[in-house]
Amino acid sequence: MRPLTTALTELTGVRYPIVQTGMGWVAGPRLVSATAEAGALGILASATMSAERLRAAVREVAARTDRPFGVNLRADAGDAAERVRIIVEEGVRVASFALAPSRELIARLKDAGVVVIPTVGARRHAEKVAAWGADAVVVQGAEGGGHTGEVATTVLLPQVVDAVDIPVVAAGGFHDGRGLVAALAFGAAGVAMGTRFLLTSDSTVPAAVKARYLAASVRDVTVTRKVDGLPHRMLRTDLVAALERSGRPAALLRSVRHAAAFRKQTGTGWARMVRDGLAMKRGAELTWGQVLLAANTPMMLRAGLVEGRTDAGVLASGQVAGLIGDLPSCAELVDRVMAEAAATLARLGAGHPA
Ligand SMILES: Cc1cc2nc3c(=O)[nH]c(=O)nc-3n(C[C@H](O)[C@H](O)[C@H](O)COP(=O)(O)O)c2cc1C
Repeated sequence: MRPLTTALTELTGVRYPIVQTGMGWVAGPRLVSATAEAGALGILASATMSAERLRAAVREVAARTDRPFGVNLRADAGDAAERVRIIVEEGVRVASFALAPSRELIARLKDAGVVVIPTVGARRHAEKVAAWGADAVVVQGAEGGGHTGEVATTVLLPQVVDAVDIPVVAAGGFHDGRGLVAALAFGAAGVAMGTRFLLTSDSTVPAAVKARYLAASVRDVTVTRKVDGLPHRMLRTDLVAALERSGRPAALLRSVRHAAAFRKQTGTGWARMVRDGLAMKRGAELTWGQVLLAANTPMMLRAGLVEGRTDAGVLASGQVAGLIGDLPSCAELVDRVMAEAAATLARLGAGHPA
């Protein structure tokens, strides 16, 4: 397959303008290295890893591929500076952020030659990180999986493309080559896909859980605030239905239990968890009850996506799960998307822009 050059491929050094996003518990070394080998940009999810595990995971990816890849982190994590140091020391090409990073973090990474690509869900956030020196931005529309906003990709994408001068990567609802061409037509420099890469044979999500996603229709994907107080897009399971019905005391009790489990799992100290909670409270204007609820998310995602316990865990998902019915390898997926994009361009009489 011929490469397709855009501002994104030039910035990051990958062959195709396709990003596999940093999904907690899902985007580990195996998925990221398979994506990189396929010619797309794989991003390692680090919010659900300890800093020590992050360094080991980065080395594991580097041992499997010599192609560029990225690391996703939370800008509001108490140890964000340590994680940035690891990214710089290990020579990671791209830093991706779940929330807008500070001007200082962006400057530190750029000084070290790391490409900074935050993910945002609103135009004003895109404008802010562009003004602070971000190299590019991923915009996630409402149909995207995980934490999500209210504005659909078809509205948010042109709005952000018109608002900033840096390359914009479209996320939320993409799974094929038609979508890639549509995103390029809107002025994007590529697409970022979460759910589509979760549903590959290279992803480590348990087979029975992948089967749940494959069986889902678009109407089986919903948004709930009951997991952590923020709008979170996921498969509508019996657990999600029960959470929607459950009252506040039950939710708070569950949160405290999960916070303790996450602490143990990631080696995060209580003091750091409280600091992170405070940062989250300021950043997202949450109440204390919601901050406690937020401690739920990592453990509930882990139960679903790692342990395959759909009774106790949640399965973050984009609406696009309803359109996906197979589990290709990352190489097959990327080749297929690029072949579909070339066919779409030919159908439009546009030829191959490369
Ligand atoms: C299972 C799952 C876990 C996710 N975890 C994270 C995360 O840890 N950090 C992040 O920035 N985005 C996370 N997201 C959002 C994705 O990175 C991406 O923006 C989104 O999936 C794009 O929409 P799509 O699913 O329609 O492709 C997650 C999404 C899913 C489906």
